[in-house]
Amino acid sequence: MRDRLKRAAATAAIELVEEGMLLGLGTGSTADHALELLGERVAGGLTITGVPTSERTAMRARGLGIPLRAFKSRLNIDLAIDGADEVSPQLDLIKGLGGALLREKQVESCAEQLVIIIDDSKLVERLGRGLLPVEVATVDIDATLAQLRALGCKAELRRDAGAPFVTDNGNWIVHLSFTEGISDPAAFDARLQALPGVIDTGLFLGMADIVFCSGPEGVQRLERTP
Ligand code: A5P
Repeated sequence: MRDRLKRAAATAAIELVEEGMLLGLGTGSTADHALELLGERVAGGLTITGVPTSERTAMRARGLGIPLRAFKSRLNIDLAIDGADEVSPQLDLIKGLGGALLREKQVESCAEQLVIIIDDSKLVERLGRGLLPVEVATVDIDATLAQLRALGCKAELRRDAGAPFVTDNGNWIVHLSFTEGISDPAAFDARLQALPGVIDTGLFLGMADIVFCSGPEGVQRLERTP
């Protein structure tokens, strides 16, 4: 069921893709549906170039015959399509449970339009219902964990089979959790970004232009009001 909903949201987003576009390619199970659909359009003759947000997405895109170029800042990306872990009523996002938040933010910050594809389980009244991933430097991790906990949340190093999960950039991820969510995401993000060990956060604020949210009633198009 969830998979069918993800596919429907991805289908709506792929309809926005036009000939010649430079596309940001997201990471995760919903973004994988968009990749597959894009691969079909490329096989049918569409010419686009993708900028992947992770090594995993790059590998999948290559397998689907999607031409790629590596990310460089100041690229003019026409459209980026990605999933999200949480979407607020203001279309602010938590992303990064797939571990790719830094490259996602780099690529998607350069996109003229960021389109988010979700199933309706991702809609929240307030961000921070679930985990907030933060990419951190490996150096002096205990100090970084202590500084994060001092902000009033729980902070646990993400592990993969016992060992710290290593991002595509060679960093680690800390998962933050909250008892009552995040009351002021912009202020909290600023406090996180000010910590020396924090490289970037999974808070994507004011970035999403369109959210395609798929539920039993169909796909709803939500747009950010300026
Ligand atoms: C990857 O790092 C994430 O930002 C994903 O976009 C997010 O976790 C959503 O993934 P799913 O589509 O698999 O839920």
